[in-house]
Amino acid sequence: MRYGVLGTGEVGRTLGGKLVGLGHEVTLGSRTKDNPAAAKWAESTGAGAGTGTFAEAAAAGEVIVNAVGGRVALAALEAAGAEHLDGKVVLDVSNPMAFEDGRLRLSPVESDSVGEQIQRAFPHARVVKSLNTVNCQVMVEPSLVPGEHQVFVSGADVAAKAQVTALLGEFGWPPHRVLDLGGIESARAVEMMLPLWLSLFQSLGHAEFNLEVRRAR
Ligand SMILES: NC(=O)c1ccc[n+]([C@@H]2O[C@H](COP(=O)([O-])OP(=O)(O)OC[C@H]3O[C@@H](n4cnc5c(N)ncnc54)[C@H](OP(=O)(O)O)[C@@H]3O)[C@@H](O)[C@H]2O)c1
Repeated sequence: MRYGVLGTGEVGRTLGGKLVGLGHEVTLGSRTKDNPAAAKWAESTGAGAGTGTFAEAAAAGEVIVNAVGGRVALAALEAAGAEHLDGKVVLDVSNPMAFEDGRLRLSPVESDSVGEQIQRAFPHARVVKSLNTVNCQVMVEPSLVPGEHQVFVSGADVAAKAQVTALLGEFGWPPHRVLDLGGIESARAVEMMLPLWLSLFQSLGHAEFNLEVRRAR
């Protein structure tokens, strides 16, 4: 499968590297064609790893991964171009966070989410929110954390969620550990998990943890 991964930060590079390791082709997208982090990533990752602008990455990918900050996601996807997103699964792993005056702020929050913003802006894209509730190393290597901890999927398109669930399986998340929260509006809930995640990170002193939902039935 060909993936267009939008974002040259730690998350984009980690997801892109894992995808190439699994035998997929990845174009890592950036605002500029000559992003140094992307070039270094491609060189160290080897065959199957390419770079380009957001538009080039989105054009190359059969599946698109949004791995930029939630607050700039629409800008990145607009640069990618609706014509390169239409009909494709867009896996959104972003969080809408920023630190303002030293305090964590989420925007959008409560009555909207980045996942919904993307789906509204690109109605023909098949948006699935997932993986934003765990650190990127855990995203691609869930066995770093022992136990039956889970990730979530949110989105209107059932087939797109099934495709993302299959990809999560390749990463090491078996289907019973992928909890379907329903439509894309449920992205609000997982995006609002970030303050809890950060508190746990500060308390535990590392990022290799996750939450586990235990069920009576
Ligand atoms: N760190 C984690 O483990 C983790 C876990 C879960 C979710 N997340 C989420 O994953 C996302 C990626 O995080 P990250 O730390 O890897 O990267 P990041 O620093 O949040 O984002 C880097 C990317 O954002 C692009 N960008 C920056 N400003 C932009 C703008 N104004 N318009 C368009 N694009 C812009 C950059 O473009 P250039 O390439 O041109 O510089 C770069 O590709 C975030 O939403 C984060 O909250 C992170």
